[in-house]
Parts: sequence; C-alpha cells; structure tokens
Amino acid sequence: MPSVKSFLAAVAFASLAHAKTIEVTAKEDNTFDPEEVEAAKGDVVEFHFEKGNHSVVAGNYEWPCSPLEFQSEGSFFSGFIDTDDDKADEVFRVTVNTTEPIAFYSSVDTQCPDGMVGIINPSKDETLKEYKEEAAKQASGVSPRDEAFGGEIAKDDGSDDSDSGSNDDSDSDESNSSDGADDEDGAAAFGVPVMSLLAAVGVAFFMA
Ligand SMILES: *[C@@H]1O[C@H](CO)[C@@H](O)[C@H](O)[C@H]1NC(C)=O
Ligand SMILES: *[C@@H]1O[C@H](CO)[C@@H](O)[C@H](O)[C@H]1NC(C)=O
Ligand SMILES: *[C@@H]1O[C@H](CO)[C@@H](O)[C@H](O)[C@H]1NC(C)=O
Repeated sequence: MPSVKSFLAAVAFASLAHAKTIEVTAKEDNTFDPEEVEAAKGDVVEFHFEKGNHSVVAGNYEWPCSPLEFQSEGSFFSGFIDTDDDKADEVFRVTVNTTEPIAFYSSVDTQCPDGMVGIINPSKDETLKEYKEEAAKQASGVSPRDEAFGGEIAKDDGSDDSDSGSNDDSDSDESNSSDGADDEDGAAAFGVPVMSLLAAVGVAFFMA
C-alpha cells in the first residue's frame, strides 16, 4: 500500500504539471460568466458560447470595446460564434502568458457597451467596474477582423476536465422507512465502505 505521503506528493506533482483550464461562458443574456478571472501564466481560459451571436476580443483597457493593437503581444479574437443551439460546439482557448490584467469583450453590435465585458487578473488600477462603466459610454464594439487569432478554436468535447470528481454524497435522500427499524438499510450502510475500497484500489493502480 503506498503511503499517504507519496500519494500526496504525486497529487502535488500532477497539479504542478497541469496548468489550470478556467471556463468562461458567453451567455445567452449577453454577459460573461464569470466576469473576473484569476489566471496564472500558462493557464488556459476556455470560452464557451451559448445561444446567439457572440465573440471574445482582448480589449485595450484604455479604450473600452476596442481591441488591443492589431497582433500585438497577447491579443486574441475568437471570431463570431453564432449558434441556435443551447451551447456552441466550439470553444475558444486562450493561453495566458502574463500576470497583467487582460480586459476582454464581445464585439458583436452593442454587446460591449451593454456590459458583455470581463477581465483576467484585474488589478487595483484596472478593474471590471471601471472598464464596464467606460464601455457603457461607447456606441458599439470594434471587431479586429474576420478570423480568429491568438487562441485555439477547439471542439467542446463535453468532458469536464476540471478535477472535481465530486459526487455530492449526502445521505439526505434516505427514504423514510415506515417501520422505524434502523437495521434494515444494509445497502446504504455498505455503500460508503465499498466506495472507499474502490477508491483505494484506484489509488493503488495509480501508484503502480
Ligand atoms: C501565449 O504564448 C503561446 C506560445 O508562445 C502562444 O501560442 C499564445 O498565442 C500566447 N497567448 C496569447 C494570448 O497571446
Ligand atoms: C455576428 O455579428 C457580427 C458583428 O455584428 C456580424 O458581422 C456577423 O454577420 C454576425 N453573424 C451572424 C451569423 O449573424
Ligand atoms: C417521506 O416523507 C416525506 C416528507 O415528510 C413525504 O412527502 C413522503 O411521502 C414520504 N415518503 C414515504 C415513502 O413515506
């Protein structure tokens, strides 16, 4: 049986080796969710797109709803992603290469002035609130050009690669047994040990 210590070391190593993927959704109601993102260098911000016509553009903080200078370091544009489905098949993945704030917005029509903006790594001087307020004074959003750049369009494989394997195992749905006999629910009682055993076997395979 591997020690807890070596298991924890393996987990720590795994999390170092894998940059985080942070999901942001361009929502049907023309907002980004979440609007503020904390990302480390190397992390990937993965934009998902709900029903409607949306885009995401790296914004010039000083000029809300306008893109970062054409092809300047760190600029990106998803192109227009228009879908009638609840969620588009494509995602747009941006690798974050800086700890500086990166404002972003949707460049479709008046979505940016209407508040479809966000910011990666906001700071004391570059805040979501100020960017949004200044954006609201603009007439419309500016699109860089027709094709995506600065990130990767990928298929939304539906796999949730966040490492939360959590399955909310609360005992709340125990059926109210009418006879009040407490020793009857053997299945529920065995449930937890069996799960732990399976987990232990899983760890053993992982360590092998
Ligand atoms: C970050 O760096 C990678 C590798 O050089 C590059 O492919 C990517 O486009 C950069 N991300 C941005 C937003 O510029
Ligand atoms: C999405 O919006 C952009 C900007 O207004 C526009 O150029 C494009 O044609 C729209 N796409 C669709 C499919 O309507
Ligand atoms: C269990 O209790 C709930 C709430 O008291 C009740 O609505 C439900 O019908 C009960 N179920 C059974 C199987 O008795």
